[in-house]
Amino acid sequence: MSNFLILSFAFLSFILNCLVHNFFLVRIMDRFSFAKRLAKKCGKIAMEDFKRSKSASYKKNSEIVTKTDKKIEKLIWNEIHRAFPNDAMLGEEFGLEKGSDNIWIVDPIDGTKNFYVGNPFFAISIAFYGEYDTFGVVYAPALGHFFYARQGEGAFENGRPIKCSSQDDLKKSLFISDSGLDMKSRKRIGEIIGRIVTKTNIRRFGSSAIETCYVASGRAEGFFAPGVHVWDVAAGAVIAKEAGCTVSDMSGRLYGMNSNDFLVAGKVYKKILNLVRK
Ligand code: IPD
Ligand code: CA
Ligand code: CA
Repeated sequence: MSNFLILSFAFLSFILNCLVHNFFLVRIMDRFSFAKRLAKKCGKIAMEDFKRSKSASYKKNSEIVTKTDKKIEKLIWNEIHRAFPNDAMLGEEFGLEKGSDNIWIVDPIDGTKNFYVGNPFFAISIAFYGEYDTFGVVYAPALGHFFYARQGEGAFENGRPIKCSSQDDLKKSLFISDSGLDMKSRKRIGEIIGRIVTKTNIRRFGSSAIETCYVASGRAEGFFAPGVHVWDVAAGAVIAKEAGCTVSDMSGRLYGMNSNDFLVAGKVYKKILNLVRK
């Protein structure tokens, strides 16, 4: 074989190698697609258990947990460990595992009480906050709502773009209130509702992840949650921001890992902030 043929062959196999390698690398490294697939897989498991009778136990503040919460979170941890062994992870049931600056924040079932008693308002919530990538996925399998957003790319529900509400009139707005974690946040909710119930309309569905996405998709104008956990809203917050909503704590400061309350709203944000802030 001439030198020219040998060189051409080597060059071609090098190019082919690069293409194959990059193809798999891009696929393997695409955490967003991975998270969407994982949420769907978890949703399937949740739906199988949803139809069965369940046993539950109670944690601090009478927070309910079922075997399915733990089973799903374990699956999520295993899959993330296998695909991205250096990433950190914070989950409701298994706590924090430190790693790189890339962190997954997971609620295996948000709305466990609903799940337990047979109401369809529960969701798998998976968020990722990384150096180069941030996204959120919220899947409510019993409702068929699949919400997701990646920073800078817009927010979607079942493949269609979503936008938060442009309603600016409190009287015509719908606000979702959380029901509170502990006595302090419950009393605070009581006071807030007492103040605003004559000025606007209030609802509650029982899953903060879904409720945040309901604001993102314009089904409600705002959602306020004193005493929320970060895993309840980490994914929804990305989705809501990408849908054009304003996200903050209930004093109007940046919402973050250490915030203990949460506010998300569309155009009416300033008006509701003035009503709910301390
Ligand atoms: C609960 C839900 C609910 C909120 C509770 C949370 P869980 O999460 O987010 O909307 O009111 O404070 O604990 O326990 O069902 O994952
Ligand atoms: Ca939760
Ligand atoms: Ca949960």
